[in-house]
Amino acid sequence: MHFLFLFLLAVLSFPLFIHSSPVSDPELTVQQVQGAINATNSNLAAASCQSGNPIDDCWRCDENWDKNRQQLANCAIGFGKNAMGGKKGKIYVVDDPSDDAVNPKRGTLRYGVIQDEPLWIVFATDMVIKLQQELMIRSFKTIDGRGTDVHISEGPCIVLQKVNNVIIHGIHIHDCKRGGNAYVRKSPTGFGWRSISDGDGISIISSRNIWVDHCSLSRCTDGLIDAIRGSTAITISNNYMTDHNKVMLLGHNDNHKQDKNMQVTIAFNHFGEGLVQRMPRCRHGYFHVVNNDYTQWRMYAIGGSAGPTINSQGNRFLAPDSRSNKEVTKRENAAENEWKKWNWTSEGDLFLNGARFVKSGSGSSTPNAKAMSLSAQPASLVASMTKTAGVLKCQKSRSC
Ligand SMILES: *[C@@H]1O[C@H](CO)[C@@H](O)[C@H](O)[C@H]1NC(C)=O
Ligand SMILES: *[C@@H]1O[C@H](CO)[C@@H](O)[C@H](O)[C@H]1NC(C)=O
Repeated sequence: MHFLFLFLLAVLSFPLFIHSSPVSDPELTVQQVQGAINATNSNLAAASCQSGNPIDDCWRCDENWDKNRQQLANCAIGFGKNAMGGKKGKIYVVDDPSDDAVNPKRGTLRYGVIQDEPLWIVFATDMVIKLQQELMIRSFKTIDGRGTDVHISEGPCIVLQKVNNVIIHGIHIHDCKRGGNAYVRKSPTGFGWRSISDGDGISIISSRNIWVDHCSLSRCTDGLIDAIRGSTAITISNNYMTDHNKVMLLGHNDNHKQDKNMQVTIAFNHFGEGLVQRMPRCRHGYFHVVNNDYTQWRMYAIGGSAGPTINSQGNRFLAPDSRSNKEVTKRENAAENEWKKWNWTSEGDLFLNGARFVKSGSGSSTPNAKAMSLSAQPASLVASMTKTAGVLKCQKSRSC
């Protein structure tokens, strides 16, 4: 009995790393996404507040969204759809914007995110949190900024390392700096030495079941959202990204074969003013890029190396005026006879101002893909589906 108790305690205290296992048929997940978009659109007449965005239509019509916050965990689509966050956990209220990287006070954000148990983390008031060091979030946490204006900025930002089931929703994340050469608390009982970090907005390392929704991200030292080292089961949706060079890196390096398991859905985001490249830059895995609005890039929008599969559907691409940067796509580290084999497909995308997507591979001729293209939501609806990308202004007792 005693032994069993200790054993359970040990298991429960280390739910951290479960090896990344991709879904065996990514096309099926792609179809489910299309099905969800389809369903919400055919439902538009039913409720006047519905927007045609299946994630938003799952909760934003609810006047009592504030009382039913955990309903959000049922609303993801795509590869990160199983991200539970802190569902079924307690509500934890952040009422203190201060930070201490090693001995966080109760009431601070860091105190909440390092706990063992599932927690649904909300904020008592608007606040600006300048972190001393990277925020090491543990498994089964939701950070839910709805109803408040919360900024994480001017310091190191968010790290998800060897964790699973994290939802980050409705937070402004900007001006993130490098951290490191310092001790940082990772759990109630442990802290560790962190080397110098890149200065990402959200850094996803060896983690899975992650969903980042309705955040506004800009001006970080390295990437806005980077996912590396065998991370998978990720959905990045409804975000508004601006004023940044290297927007999203998905895949560690060309030799890191573990990233073949990486599967990421990028849906309903607005890639806005002042962006340069990497929306995203992919390696090895499977990337479904669907119904995003690209209103600015200076170099390219979607790129990659090491043979990633890129499935682009129903996006709106507005090219820059400069004649040399009209191409949406960019291949790196491969000669044409090699990248010609990579499956980069574009279906139902809308190309403006001379934008062009250079396709490759044979993937577009699979029967699945053909069937899907018939049901892909047209890019003409992207403007309305992404109109409220980024942090929402929700009020209690009103649909959001
Ligand atoms: C989407 O809707 C169309 C028309 O209503 C239907 O024919 C198609 O099968 C649907 N696609 C999916 C993936 O549900
Ligand atoms: C591209 O897709 C085809 C058809 O689905 C598949 O047989 C092939 O292995 C894929 N190629 C790569 C490099 O992933």
